[in-house]
Amino acid sequence: MVEKKGRFRSKPKGMTSAPRRRNVSQLQGGVGLLTQQASQMSNNLFIARRSSGLISGSLEDRQSGRNLVRLSNPRISQIKNDRLYHLGLDTTNTNMPSRFGDIKFVVIGESAGQMEEFARLLAKDISQSKENNVENLARGGNSPYAMYKVEDVLILSHSLGAPSISILLNELIKLMHHAHCNSMTFIRIGQSGGVGVRPGTVIVSEQVFDAQLRNSHEVVVMGKPQLWPTKLNGQLAKDLIDMNMPANDGFEAIAGHTMSTNDFYEGQFRLDGAFADYNEVDKQVFLSQLVEKGIRNIEMESTAFAAITHKANIRSAIVCVTNLNRLNGDTITATKEQLDVWDRRPQKLVSRFIQQNLNIPSSTTKVNFSPNSKTTQ
Ligand code: URA
Repeated sequence: MVEKKGRFRSKPKGMTSAPRRRNVSQLQGGVGLLTQQASQMSNNLFIARRSSGLISGSLEDRQSGRNLVRLSNPRISQIKNDRLYHLGLDTTNTNMPSRFGDIKFVVIGESAGQMEEFARLLAKDISQSKENNVENLARGGNSPYAMYKVEDVLILSHSLGAPSISILLNELIKLMHHAHCNSMTFIRIGQSGGVGVRPGTVIVSEQVFDAQLRNSHEVVVMGKPQLWPTKLNGQLAKDLIDMNMPANDGFEAIAGHTMSTNDFYEGQFRLDGAFADYNEVDKQVFLSQLVEKGIRNIEMESTAFAAITHKANIRSAIVCVTNLNRLNGDTITATKEQLDVWDRRPQKLVSRFIQQNLNIPSSTTKVNFSPNSKTTQ
């Protein structure tokens, strides 16, 4: 479970050597002393990381070899009251194992409204009761994150872009760790711009590329860029596509690569933003490169989602509907009603998948599940 190769260096890259720090200490007194202490702490931290990593769950969990969430911050287990600030929860006010220890699936998507709708759909589909009231469990005040729990499924909104989804995933992964969750599946659902596909088509991501067409998510730590690999679970993606019955559903779910950018306008080379120092020909040339590469949709969260879940040892998938075909234009012209219909498509597939994996007979969706498509971790 602990990554052995590459992750743990004997010395942090770019770290100044100890003797040089001592010289600085002589010159600058107290500040230098602090630097020296920081250097020592840094070294200790790396020794701790190299020898352990941090795997969630009890000793029993670890010995049983269950698939646990992986954190690489040895300090977390020493924090008395770990505060999940944006979710408004902490380890003192919430008994994490009893409240969230049963979670097997986490489904996240852009807006609180969409995710509340998904929670209601799921409550109707998987709960025995007819009641489909759901309560927002996030207590983060003005934060954009809403959280609903339906049986073994946690449903949250992540708002727009990589910074926002990264904050949520950090707190969510710590929550899973404190709750001793194991064998987790995370799925992101949402909207995207299609590349050469009919609007309304659902794309289940195979690979994720950033705006420089790298299979990585760039994280800048203390001024230095790190590239985290963006890896999704291929079998999970296939199983989600298997949930689609095009003839009944009236839409298609297909596999494709996804490009993730840090912006909706120039970042996605639109010509309808406030700035565009390029033209239609430049845009079409780049779009044809994307088509060539197998990229079928563009959105703003996938690199962070794929990289962070992979780093935390969580299997994950991305299911996004397309709301325009970028080969034909940049402005989303579909009506609100049409967009609402499209939004429900990823929800429908994911709800079926969850029903199947929780062994719940599908009453409302009338899906004929083949035993072969059941996913195991
Ligand atoms: N549609 C787009 O065109 N881009 C996004 O990032 C999301 C939806």
